Amino acid sequence: MSQYDFGIVGLGVMGRNLLLNMADHGFAVAGLDLDAAKVTSLEKEAARDQQVMGTTSVAEFAGSLKHPRALMLLVPAGGPVDAAIASLLPYLENGDIIVDGGNTYFTDTDRRVTELAAKGIHFFGMGISGGEQGARFGPSMMPGGDRRAYERLRPVFEAVAAKVNGDACVAYMGSGSAGNYVKMVHNGIEYAIMQLIAETYDLLKRGLGLPDDRLQQTFEAWNETELNSFLIEITAKVLNEVDTETGQRLVNVISDWAKAKGTGKWTSQNAMDLQAPVPTIDAAVTMRDLSKLKTERTEAAKRLRWSPVVHESLLEDQFIAQVKNAYYVAMTTIYAQGMTQLRIASEAYQYGLQLDEIIRIWRGGCIIRAACLEDFRAAYQRDPALPNLLLDDEIGRRVVNMQQHLRTVVTEAVNRGIPVPAFMSALAYFDAYRSETLPTNLIQAQRDYFGAHQYERIDREGVFHTQWNG
Ligand code: 6PG
Repeated sequence: MSQYDFGIVGLGVMGRNLLLNMADHGFAVAGLDLDAAKVTSLEKEAARDQQVMGTTSVAEFAGSLKHPRALMLLVPAGGPVDAAIASLLPYLENGDIIVDGGNTYFTDTDRRVTELAAKGIHFFGMGISGGEQGARFGPSMMPGGDRRAYERLRPVFEAVAAKVNGDACVAYMGSGSAGNYVKMVHNGIEYAIMQLIAETYDLLKRGLGLPDDRLQQTFEAWNETELNSFLIEITAKVLNEVDTETGQRLVNVISDWAKAKGTGKWTSQNAMDLQAPVPTIDAAVTMRDLSKLKTERTEAAKRLRWSPVVHESLLEDQFIAQVKNAYYVAMTTIYAQGMTQLRIASEAYQYGLQLDEIIRIWRGGCIIRAACLEDFRAAYQRDPALPNLLLDDEIGRRVVNMQQHLRTVVTEAVNRGIPVPAFMSALAYFDAYRSETLPTNLIQAQRDYFGAHQYERIDREGVFHTQWNG
């Protein structure tokens, strides 16, 4: 009976696709779902030569797996994960492994790791990126948990992960909740880059007045350059889609209030806890929230009307080239912010993250895959302890050479009243980071003035307090 290599709990879109992906690679896989219809449709979809079994019975499922059992939960984060664990526990034994493949908040994983370790069960939190297609044909996978237990999972994960030049986009991330944490920051970066692309679209459409077809062609052309990435590629495809009902570009009839499941917000919240500045991720979260104030924005658009004071019109080709370079610089700072958060978190939570490995597995399968990641990976290979990507000689030089275009683009946006908080925060991050002195000395003085909070001096050791104004 115990013949199946791997088990999947939850046969929704992600679970079913990942299961079939495993079966494609020759693994015998068992699937469990309480919904009989999902089990039937899985068995129908599986090819005749694949070793796939579906069941609604927890006992049958657990009994079908090779020992030590390796199984993955693909159920919604939160209560459903605890419920699935509780239903499985009576059938599991010492050394069995449960992997949670959802977007789980990392502290929930830490709790489960501890609770299950007491019962001899290894618990893994694993970020999976790439959506439905990724799960079916090769996602990027970020597993964290017990190092030795990972060896049981490794052959399956390496087989099903996306490949870049034959290199599997999966690696052991670190202990405890490392895998969920890395995926959370992946999503924070995803939010920031999506916001940056949305602003780029606005700059070219409203700022420059590019017609829809030129706009679409611009993104398509950029994808053949150093901006090559999954998100630029799908932007070109999205802009090409025509609405069958109205005959207009579909994007023009899609409402502008953006939803969010919350992983970007978690990244920002935890970055604040760790005092790891990620201003462009913060801006992206804020803009999704601001976008929801549709009624107020509609009213404000009437009440706060203002006509831009623009003296010169933009030169089309020149401005497009400037926006392209501005995008490159801002995008670099977004990865720099996210990677720095990971470095700080690795120390705070003792994950033992290897930043070059994280970038390696983000080169394929995931939403933030991009050509520039080869350069960023090389930077961490040159110096694994690099405090910030911007301090790498090659990346730093490139950003310094291109930054003027970011300044020009932000200035043009400001003069035209086009909101570009991602571009602005990226520039401010860059300028603040490269400022040897910041005006925060004044903040220290004010704190001491009203609260006797004390300050340090640049010319002497110690802490000081002044009786201000005598
Ligand atoms: C991925 C995505 C995936 C999901 C996000 C969307 O890496 O495959 O990040 O996890 O699409 O959860 O997030 P929002 O709904 O918050 O935009």
